[in-house]
Amino acid sequence: MAYETCEAMAEVTVPPRAGLQGSMRRSVRRYLPDPIPKALVDRLLEAAITAPSAHNRQPWRFAVAHSLPQRAKLARAMGDRLRKDRQRDKDAIADIEADVARSFARITGAAAVIIVSLSMEHMDVYPDALRNRYEHQMAIQSTAMAGQNLLLAAHAAGLGACWLCAPMFCADTVRGALGMPAHWEPQGMITLGYPLDAGKPFVRRPLSAVAMHLDDMANGCVAHAQAAQAAQAAQAA
Ligand SMILES: Cc1cc2nc3c(=O)[nH]c(=O)nc-3n(C[C@H](O)[C@H](O)[C@H](O)COP(=O)(O)O)c2cc1C
Repeated sequence: MAYETCEAMAEVTVPPRAGLQGSMRRSVRRYLPDPIPKALVDRLLEAAITAPSAHNRQPWRFAVAHSLPQRAKLARAMGDRLRKDRQRDKDAIADIEADVARSFARITGAAAVIIVSLSMEHMDVYPDALRNRYEHQMAIQSTAMAGQNLLLAAHAAGLGACWLCAPMFCADTVRGALGMPAHWEPQGMITLGYPLDAGKPFVRRPLSAVAMHLDDMANGCVAHAQAAQAAQAAQAA
């Protein structure tokens, strides 16, 4: 819907900030042991693939590990790789082992994990590296949007979920552990489960630090909409 005048925009109800944030998705990292029905995971995946994608090429790919043995296999493989990488960094052994144990617990403690990957198989190919890089970035953006859709759908279904970046750092390990096709490029892992807590406190930089309205029209409309809202609130009181 396009709003061409301040009057039209004043009709729009702006939800209160607290209400919006309170109902929004958060990263939930601790779960109840209850399994998630496959049909529900399929609903989440269906929501994921409604995302927009560059040229509508739908580069997203999903590998779902439900069972504990499958997740433990993945967790062990990723843990071994993490240990090797951090040993090469010459990190303290105690720190490495704590990290490996935490990673193992995160993957095995979820009810299911979804490796969100991209494939370039249907994306365009250019003769030059720069345009190929942008094409790859568009596949990343499209896949990330599918991932966010999935997180929102999980939240709407009463599930907790968290996006983890680790698979990107050990793509070959993840592909090997789960038998994923060689052209699937893992971008992240979504851990899923019925929530044990509500997640960490909500922390964001203020809007004024990350966004700007570029013209007076916007300010005028915002002021107009706020005045209209204040008048509505006064009437209701
Ligand atoms: C690209 C990306 C990578 C992330 N990687 C991790 C991760 O490896 N481990 C983790 O616990 N959370 C990870 N997160 C979740 C963020 O920590 C979380 O979104 C952030 O702290 C804000 O909290 P909220 O999602 O509850 O609002 C990641 C999120 C994104 C978008």
